Amino acid sequence: MFKTSLFTLFLAFFLNVTYANEPVIGGPCQGCELVFVGMPKQLSTESTIGPANEKGEKMTVNGKVYQLNGMPAKGIVVYAYQTNAEGFYPKSTTKHGGLRGWALTDNKGRYSFSTVRPAAYPKRGIPQHIHLHVIEPNKGTYYIDDVTFNDDPLLTQQYKQSRPCRAGCGFSTPEKNTQGVWTVNRDIFLGKGIPDY
Ligand SMILES: [Fe+2]
Repeated sequence: MFKTSLFTLFLAFFLNVTYANEPVIGGPCQGCELVFVGMPKQLSTESTIGPANEKGEKMTVNGKVYQLNGMPAKGIVVYAYQTNAEGFYPKSTTKHGGLRGWALTDNKGRYSFSTVRPAAYPKRGIPQHIHLHVIEPNKGTYYIDDVTFNDDPLLTQQYKQSRPCRAGCGFSTPEKNTQGVWTVNRDIFLGKGIPDY
């Protein structure tokens, strides 16, 4: 086991690849293993969710990832998937749909995704959201609280209070820049509120 781990580290260092197939941790999680399906070998800090020509209002999700001790966490994979601007997961090879992306944090723990603002599921009363997971090399993978939006009427106090705030709460305040692009921030606190971390 130890030898395998060292070998993986060696490969990762020289080939500049990220780790894959870390165990799912943090309690029951349907579909958590899908984070590895289709994950590119080379990841970047500034990533995209879905194609550049996806219809909808442009949105950028920025954030920093922190270790439990408050230091920035480098080399963490942040995985995201979401509905499109009509509230559907576009059909794809996995049930996470076609709007997915992976970002790798830099040495300051930063990551970002360019995407479109998701719509809420039609007629379901669930707020607009972007699903997030993290992959921690040599530790595990787990889902964390979705990014949700404080200007969304469906994001009620009652809904907020129902959230577990895994790795911090995901409530964000969207702001539109002069180019009409929504920007939100979602900082991530590794292990915070994650069972059996
Ligand atoms: Fe969803």
